[in-house]
Amino acid sequence: MIAGSIAKILKTYHANTASPAIAMTISEDQRVLYSNATPQQDHFFESNFRRPFSNWKANVGLKNTNLDELARNSFLHSAGATLLVVVFLLCGMALTIRATDREARLAQAKSNFVANVSHELKTPLSLISLFSEILELGRVNNEEKKAEYYRIIRHESLRLNTTIDNILDFSRIEAGRKTYQLVDGDMADVIHYVLSTHRYQIVNSGFDIQTDIQPDLPSVLIDRDAMAQAISNLLDNAIKYSGKVKQISLTAKTLASNLCVEIADHGIGIPRAEQARVFEKFYRVGNGLVHDVKGSGLGLSLVKHIIEAHNGTISVESDVGKGSRFRILLPIAASVPSANDA
Ligand SMILES: Nc1ncnc2c1ncn2[C@@H]1O[C@H](COP(=O)(O)OP(=O)(O)OP(=O)(O)O)[C@@H](O)[C@H]1O
Ligand SMILES: [Mg+2]
Repeated sequence: MIAGSIAKILKTYHANTASPAIAMTISEDQRVLYSNATPQQDHFFESNFRRPFSNWKANVGLKNTNLDELARNSFLHSAGATLLVVVFLLCGMALTIRATDREARLAQAKSNFVANVSHELKTPLSLISLFSEILELGRVNNEEKKAEYYRIIRHESLRLNTTIDNILDFSRIEAGRKTYQLVDGDMADVIHYVLSTHRYQIVNSGFDIQTDIQPDLPSVLIDRDAMAQAISNLLDNAIKYSGKVKQISLTAKTLASNLCVEIADHGIGIPRAEQARVFEKFYRVGNGLVHDVKGSGLGLSLVKHIIEAHNGTISVESDVGKGSRFRILLPIAASVPSANDA
């Protein structure tokens, strides 16, 4: 009965898995009354019971371990746990610092954006207002000059329109409300349309634009307006960031199972480290040359969104001081065969 009770108590004690296993032997003279294991030699204590069991002796120690080992293990466990907590804390701190840094950069980018957008809206508006006032006052008698002022007004209105379109689309994208209607379309048509809308800007600023459009381009699934907006943004950048060498090339061809559109300039280029970041919203390259060129930093993030909505990819190759080449790849296989293909 005694053996049963002791075994029960030890079982309860051992139910806590963290407790070290106890070895206990209870003997009466030389007769063993209860024993669950023999404690390790030199690592146990003996005790006599009080009356009326004074001839009973309890021999208690640790099973399969000793106090030194137990202390060492406990130290290693605590050190391991502390190390883990420290690692977690450091990771947490690193993540917090990163998030704060990101927030700070985003806040800075947003405030730059507001300043840049205000400029982008105000500049064309001031020009439109100035030239329309001159025309209204009838101060220009020269027909050529008049035509020139009308062209400026038209061009600045288009520029204003592009900026507003970009801002509206950006807010639609942010709100998850931007949708695309993909229909079988002719990319050559879209490119010619974009070139026609930029004609004034191209001619007026002395650009030489080489176009090389493969005559039998296969049709692809496109949202015509969105694609025109993407190509227009790329062409606009090529013009804005060209510097002295005013040469731009625009090519469209098939490349494996893709339709490939490339817009290349010989302008200021983009440093390698910033090439991936130019597709982020609000991001503008921070080198001195770009600072004089105004922009909202939205154009390429819209282009990326538009191209990815077409299951395509956009990439850039660029060398500082030599120029940039933006490449759009759109899958041809995804397109619905046109009537001509049937
Ligand atoms: N062709 C290019 N050559 C050199 N740098 C470029 C070119 N295209 C884009 N960049 C860099 O990438 C940045 C992001 O371009 P993005 O078109 O998104 O914005 P933006 O031109 O500054 O403003 P906007 O929203 O008015 O287009 C630009 O500020 C510029 O630093
Ligand atoms: Mg741009």
